[in-house]
Amino acid sequence: MTNAPAGRVLGIETSCDETAAAVVDGGSVIVSSVVSSQIDVHARYGGVVPELAGRAHLELLTPVLADALVQAGTDASGEGIDAVAVTYGPGLIGSLLVGLAEAKALALAWQVPLVGVNHLEAHLFASLLERPDLEWPAATLLVSGGHSLVIEVTAPGRYRLLGGTIDDAAGEAFDKVARFLGLGYPGGPAIDQVAPDGDPTAFAFPRSLPGDEFDLSFSGLKTAVVNAVRRHPDAATEDVAASFRQAVVDVLVTRTLDAARSIGARSVCLAGGVAANALLRSTIEEECRGAGLQSFLPSRALCTDNAAMVAAAGAWGLANRGASPLTLGADPNLALVPAA
Ligand code: KG4
Ligand code: ZN
Repeated sequence: MTNAPAGRVLGIETSCDETAAAVVDGGSVIVSSVVSSQIDVHARYGGVVPELAGRAHLELLTPVLADALVQAGTDASGEGIDAVAVTYGPGLIGSLLVGLAEAKALALAWQVPLVGVNHLEAHLFASLLERPDLEWPAATLLVSGGHSLVIEVTAPGRYRLLGGTIDDAAGEAFDKVARFLGLGYPGGPAIDQVAPDGDPTAFAFPRSLPGDEFDLSFSGLKTAVVNAVRRHPDAATEDVAASFRQAVVDVLVTRTLDAARSIGARSVCLAGGVAANALLRSTIEEECRGAGLQSFLPSRALCTDNAAMVAAAGAWGLANRGASPLTLGADPNLALVPAA
């Protein structure tokens, strides 16, 4: 059993290239959620530039916070806010520090608890925001720009790592292939947009399933795309994108469903930015229906980085693990499950 979260929590998220603030009530009611993307800042470099991300967070955080507080019916006085939750890792150190410093200052000024939140755990809480009645255990696929993990969730706060990528993260593969194809940044949405106009069987890209557990690998696939385009320079970009997306989705769905069967899961969840992928969403739903499993896909806005998931994870953390000290530091390499 876990303690039910209570009160209004302000969440702050600045781990990568989204500056976000949100107020969540009782751990699951989103009162306000503001996300300011830095896509324009990084697009011409084809990826996130850490130094620029930190500076952009500094500029954007104050207005984003003000917006989230006003939409929640309060202001800089923080009246009605019972705690401040903030992502303290994993992520870019300069970016994490901007959010952390702000959160500490607000907790101190408002005299409310500070709660440090693990960004990966926050992604898992995105599911609970929309489906507090989720049935456990859940096989969860957490796929983002920096991580690709297959996780058994037995209850909020109880995670077991079943597998992970041995090289690139799924989102990283989307971003690198999109950049190579000249489709722009971020790559996932760009590929999702052109792929429906292509033939997913045009190229037989490899489906890499390393080891005998639930690990993932995408670097061979990325190289296969580069080699195929060099060999067939006239190939339609749509066909390459569609074939690449199909290969990624095939391995993600295979691994997730195999993991679900092996743990006797009652539900299957998706989390992280790549969970916004249209083909991944429709395929997982279809396969789960066929396997008699309940599937849950958070809305796209809650899959990509946002602060509502941080506030939700913080509310639960406060009720079940207690507040964090004001000396809390940023941890760029924070893991979801500490190494044994
Ligand atoms: O969770 P997220 O917003 O940030 C991290 O924590 O990394 O994930 C960002 C990643 C990027 O690599 C982006 O290309 C990918 O999620 N992404 C997608 C889609 N939307 C975002 N990948 C595939 N299809 C999408 N529709
Ligand atoms: Zn994320």
